[in-house]
Amino acid sequence: MTESILKKIIALRQQIQAHNHAYYTLDEPSITDAEYDRLIRSLRALEKQHPEYASPDSPTQSVGGPVLAAFSKIEHEMAMLSLDNVFSADELNEFIQRIQNRLKNTQELTFCVEPKLDGLAISLLYEHGKLIRAATRGDGSIGEDVTHNVKTIKNIPHTLQGDAIPVRLEVRGEVIMPIAAFHAFNHQALSNDSKGFVNPRNAAAGSLRQLDSNITAQRPLAFYSYGIGIVEGGMLTDSQFQRLQQLKDWGLPLTDEVILAQGPEQCIAAYTQLLEKRAQLDYEIDGIVYKIDDIALQEQLGFVARAPRWATAHKFPAQEEQTQLLDVEFQVGRTGAITPVAILDPVFVGGVTVSRASLHNADEIQRLQLKIGNTVIIRRAADVIPQIVKAIPGSQSQTEIIFPTTCPVCNSEIERIEGEAIARCTGGLYCAAQRKQAIKYFASRKAMNIEGLGDKVVEQLVDEQLINNPADLFNLTVEQLIPLERIGTKKADNLINAIIQCKQTTLAKFILALGIREVGDATAKNLAEYFLTLDGIQKATNEDLELVDDVGEIVARHIVTFFRQNHNQEVITALLASDIHWPEIQPKEQQALPLAGKIFVLTGALAHTDRNAAKQTLQALGAKVSGSVSKNTDYVVAGAAAGSKLSKAQDLGIAVLTEDELVTLLASF
Ligand code: IVH
Repeated sequence: MTESILKKIIALRQQIQAHNHAYYTLDEPSITDAEYDRLIRSLRALEKQHPEYASPDSPTQSVGGPVLAAFSKIEHEMAMLSLDNVFSADELNEFIQRIQNRLKNTQELTFCVEPKLDGLAISLLYEHGKLIRAATRGDGSIGEDVTHNVKTIKNIPHTLQGDAIPVRLEVRGEVIMPIAAFHAFNHQALSNDSKGFVNPRNAAAGSLRQLDSNITAQRPLAFYSYGIGIVEGGMLTDSQFQRLQQLKDWGLPLTDEVILAQGPEQCIAAYTQLLEKRAQLDYEIDGIVYKIDDIALQEQLGFVARAPRWATAHKFPAQEEQTQLLDVEFQVGRTGAITPVAILDPVFVGGVTVSRASLHNADEIQRLQLKIGNTVIIRRAADVIPQIVKAIPGSQSQTEIIFPTTCPVCNSEIERIEGEAIARCTGGLYCAAQRKQAIKYFASRKAMNIEGLGDKVVEQLVDEQLINNPADLFNLTVEQLIPLERIGTKKADNLINAIIQCKQTTLAKFILALGIREVGDATAKNLAEYFLTLDGIQKATNEDLELVDDVGEIVARHIVTFFRQNHNQEVITALLASDIHWPEIQPKEQQALPLAGKIFVLTGALAHTDRNAAKQTLQALGAKVSGSVSKNTDYVVAGAAAGSKLSKAQDLGIAVLTEDELVTLLASF
């Protein structure tokens, strides 16, 4: 019996050590924080029940990981410790109770309450106010010298400002990558086919532990202080809260979320408030830290193994959890786009239970090297849709994910145009899935706004073959609806009335309702205002269309292709025959703008002018700016290295302006 407990303890230690290596040394965690915390907790519980098996080598007794050989080592003059955790108000009460017992104090304790920043712990050493050295936490006693890298972080002062700066001062805090910067960085990395980071914390750690500080300099890192290590040749206040304010006065960054709290209720209130604010912060936090504010009490309480007795972290619900990928389904969207969707063993993450997650496209499956049966890390950061960020290699039995070549709904061929990430079913309105989506979209609030025609009803109507396309809605009768499941006489009446009512609409809503690819409500409105009639839009050429705000080459092509399809024309004719109508649009009063009606094309590289700004100025003066040259073009502005558009303009005898001439022209109004 005890032997098997020892075996279990040893196995847990080995497991945790392997994870420590992946996390601290490789910056590439193999499990989620939540899972790691569970392992540490079970090991700690076993060691507590069986003190005979305690060992100084246990990961419960150490902090972080060993230093990378490539960096010089720095021995911390004062150890950099970790924090214990509480996971509930009860555990917080126990923590406070333990402190009060130890201090033989029954008075309400004051805590400095701080966000627990999810980044990488750093020690900054200032001498005579100058930053002379920066080190990672490493294993707590020896860290890595990252001075050159840290000096590239823009919000870390190289020189402190203000009065009474101690001769030697060690500032401790966290290096993070702000969330928006992380997304931008990852987006860029993935579009360059290089590897992104799983989360902002990894991005911060991976960016800081670079051997070439030029690389670190290009990474959008930031630093926030949370404490002080060594102090020599100067005096500090005896309150943690005031010490942090003092750091701020000397020019060190501090988050806005540090407050004082008295007793457990105020601590829990601070926890709840910060948790609510979590989604609005531009840095990731994984909890809140309660620290006894009085430094004298901190000193009295001291440390155990790897953490202080005077502080604890209260973790927020994890934003990353791991679970099993059970299957992958392929969904067909309104425009035929095939989206792989991961079917997951349900897991509670970021405050909700997640059982499905979009995998976006085939490239994403490839990038993640995903297989059915994999253990995967699911991430659901505050209010963001859940995502699979990583497949854990070597886990469980695995089955390849096979992207279908024919549509799972209508069996038509699936095509993927070269250079496009999305594969599409070629079935068009022949495909029941696309039909359903097209009808749902037609009926939706911003389009025809047919109240009562929700997703479920549309699915029933299509499955029962009562409708095949949006125009069929207008032939439905109450008698046809009544027998359907969950629809009674009243609902049927209401629905038919709503269908009749929707016939009175606007041109913009009608255009939107047609569901042309990439034509959203703003574009539909612009098209209606520009062309005034449906006929005008249908007859427009690509060049005409490109003169409309928001419409570029691709959208113009989608519009022309849409109206060219016979099946779309049939639906439009049927819709108009069912008396869908809209008020005539009056042309906007043509103000006497100096460039009204003139069509410009900008091409080549403009040296001193921002192309978008030039476009906006031209439009504000009444001109249209088009993407392609035709006989209707009035001016082509040719920057450096202008190519085919310039030659076409010359062939057609269109006036060509240089950038300088454009600037002069614009300045003349
Ligand atoms: S105090 C002696 N305060 O959490 C106390 N740590 O789990 C040591 N952390 O290594 C740390 N925010 O990287 C402290 N406001 C905060 C923190 C914080 C984030 C990190 C830090 C530390 C780890 C401990």
